[in-house]
Amino acid sequence: MPLLELKQVASGYGSVEALHQISLSVEAGEIVTLLGANGAGKTTTLQTISGLLRTFSGEIWFDGHAIHQLSPEKIVRLGLAHVPEGRRIFPGLTVRENILLGASNRNGIKRSVLENETDEVFEIFPEIKRFENVLGWTLSGGQQQMLAVARGLMSRPKLLMLDEPSLGLAPLIVQNLFAAIRTIHSRGTTLLLVEQNANMALSVASRGYVLDSGNITIEGTPQELLNNEQVRIAYLGGH
Ligand SMILES: Nc1ncnc2c1ncn2[C@@H]1O[C@H](COP(=O)(O)OP(=O)(O)OP(=O)(O)O)[C@@H](O)[C@H]1O
Ligand SMILES: [Mg+2]
Repeated sequence: MPLLELKQVASGYGSVEALHQISLSVEAGEIVTLLGANGAGKTTTLQTISGLLRTFSGEIWFDGHAIHQLSPEKIVRLGLAHVPEGRRIFPGLTVRENILLGASNRNGIKRSVLENETDEVFEIFPEIKRFENVLGWTLSGGQQQMLAVARGLMSRPKLLMLDEPSLGLAPLIVQNLFAAIRTIHSRGTTLLLVEQNANMALSVASRGYVLDSGNITIEGTPQELLNNEQVRIAYLGGH
C-alpha cells in the first residue's frame, strides 16, 4: 500500500471545482514531484491533502488512514507535514523559536528533547544555524525558505510536502536548498515536492506527475518526463 494515495479526488473553492478527479500515489521512501504551470492546481492539491480544503469527492489515504474527512491538526499528527507557499515566518520570533513552533502539534514532549531536535534540524541547514537568535523575518528569502522547511521537520513527518520551495531564489541558493532536500530524504523522510522548476525537481525525484487545469495529464519517471515533448515545451523551455 502506498504511503499516500489520492483516488479520484475532486476539490476546490466554495462550490467551484479546481481539481477534477485526480489520482496519484507516493510510496514510502520516494521523492515524488508534482509539476504544472501557474494556476494548474498544485497548491490546491497540497491544501486538499493536508485538510485545509474540503474534498468534494474521492478518497485520500495516508499510512493506512482515510484522511479526507479529518482536520488539519489530526492529519499533521498522523505524520503528514505541509510547508506552504510563501514561507510564513512568524515575525516576532527568533529563528530558533520559529523552528520550535513546528513541534506545537506534539503534546507532552519535554522542552529539552525539542531543543535537541532543533539542533539536529540545524545540522541540515548550517546557513541558518548562525542566525538562530535573530528575528526570523530579517533573514534573506532563501534562508526564510530553509527556516520554513526546518519548521516543517519539527513535526517529525513521515511525508513532507513542499510547495514551490525554490520560488524566487537565486540559482546558487536553489542548489543549497535541493542539497538539503536530498539530506532530508536520505535521513528517511518521504517527500511530495511541488515545483515549477521542473529541471531541479526531476533531478531529485523518483517519479513525477504533471497537473494541467486541475487534471493529471502525465505520470512517469524523470527520464520519461524529460523525454516527453509536452513536458519539454511547457516546463523545460525546450523542443
Ligand atoms: N482562494 C481561492 N479562491 C478561489 N479560487 C482559487 C483560490 N486559490 C486558487 N484558486 C483557483 O484554483 C485554481 C488552481 O490554483 P492553485 O493555486 O492550486 O494553482 P498552482 O498550481 O498552485 O499555481 P501557482 O504555480 O501559481 O502557485 C486556479 O484556477 C486558481 O485561480
Ligand atoms: Mg501554488
